[in-house]
Amino acid sequence: MPSFNKNIDQVGVGFASFFTAPPPDVIRFTVGQPDFTTPKKIRNRAIRSLENGETFYTRQAGSESLCEAVANYLKNNFKINTCMERVLIAPGCKQTILYALMGLGNPGDEVMLLSPSWATYDAQITLLGMTPVHVPVRRDNYHPDFKSMEEAISEKTTMILINSPNNPTGAVYTAEELKKIVEFAECHDLWIISDEIYATMTWVDWPHISPSTLHGGYERTIVIGGWSKSWAMTGWRLGFMTGPKNAMDAIFKCHANAATHVPTFLMPAAELALTCKNEVDDMTRAFRQRREVIIEGLKDIKGIKVPNPEGAFYVLMDITGTGMDDMTFAQRALDEARVHLIPGSLMKKGEGLIRISYATDIEKIKEGCARIKNWLNNL
Ligand SMILES: Cc1ncc(COP(=O)(O)O)c(C=O)c1O
Repeated sequence: MPSFNKNIDQVGVGFASFFTAPPPDVIRFTVGQPDFTTPKKIRNRAIRSLENGETFYTRQAGSESLCEAVANYLKNNFKINTCMERVLIAPGCKQTILYALMGLGNPGDEVMLLSPSWATYDAQITLLGMTPVHVPVRRDNYHPDFKSMEEAISEKTTMILINSPNNPTGAVYTAEELKKIVEFAECHDLWIISDEIYATMTWVDWPHISPSTLHGGYERTIVIGGWSKSWAMTGWRLGFMTGPKNAMDAIFKCHANAATHVPTFLMPAAELALTCKNEVDDMTRAFRQRREVIIEGLKDIKGIKVPNPEGAFYVLMDITGTGMDDMTFAQRALDEARVHLIPGSLMKKGEGLIRISYATDIEKIKEGCARIKNWLNNL
């Protein structure tokens, strides 16, 4: 019998089992994607490209004009130092992370994660024969715990993968923390893979900052982003990445030999999306409002602690005060309160936590919170 990748048994499928639709009477707080359809003019642009017969192979890193547009978007909005030649367009942010790990890492390397973290990171690192090292974030606000990071570093650590604004914690790291992360990476000579897919979604009075813009950060940071969340384009499978030339040259080889390029007829629509400021602002405003509603809805619930979500569209509740573990909590919430939630222990260091995605309409958020409150306060 031929063998398998020896790491395959340690790799899960993330939240896959929680993504199947629950019965219609259940409020679904599990899905981490905007509930908006992609704005019409973006959809129409893709249709036009198909009608124009844009169906051939093209430049592998992405069309020059799209890469140029992404470089300008990153410069203008986040002060990221980049140019068209250092931008790569790939099938989703998920794939760009895989490429960064493939291009920069070696089997046996350790990759530091600030956890709980998006389950895909652990799976990709493991698949590539590297070791994920999960350093728990602070339990009171889900921000980095620098003492634990220092304790977890080893000779084998070559990368730190961070995500701010964060899924699942909702944390937005401060400038001071990002500066410390860059210093930590410099001190231990690490690459920083910075997943900034939720960059436009910050709800606090400090902005999203890319470590690549900080002193010492540029030469060791790979910036990752994509269209899925801010432009409501999850199904399009489009992501972008940029970084210093030596890293991007290595990463480009992974992409050229894996995907060749993203669909030719999607690129003009992706480029147009970058100009759709009003549409993005409307959706961002809706998420901001929903955040207010969920903060209000989760107040005063017996046994639950909820740090205010700072960014993205997730709330991470600490449910340890209920006496239930998170798997039991999620199952009972489904059976008894008819609310569908993600148990934290599907992610390493997520035990005792429950993730709520508030990417759903306000009435459902109100009703879902009321159900959780009634259920727990009457136990
Ligand atoms: C932190 C994080 N990074 C990346 C992704 C995936 O992005 P994409 O759809 O571009 O692959 C997600 C999706 O849930 C995410 O939460």
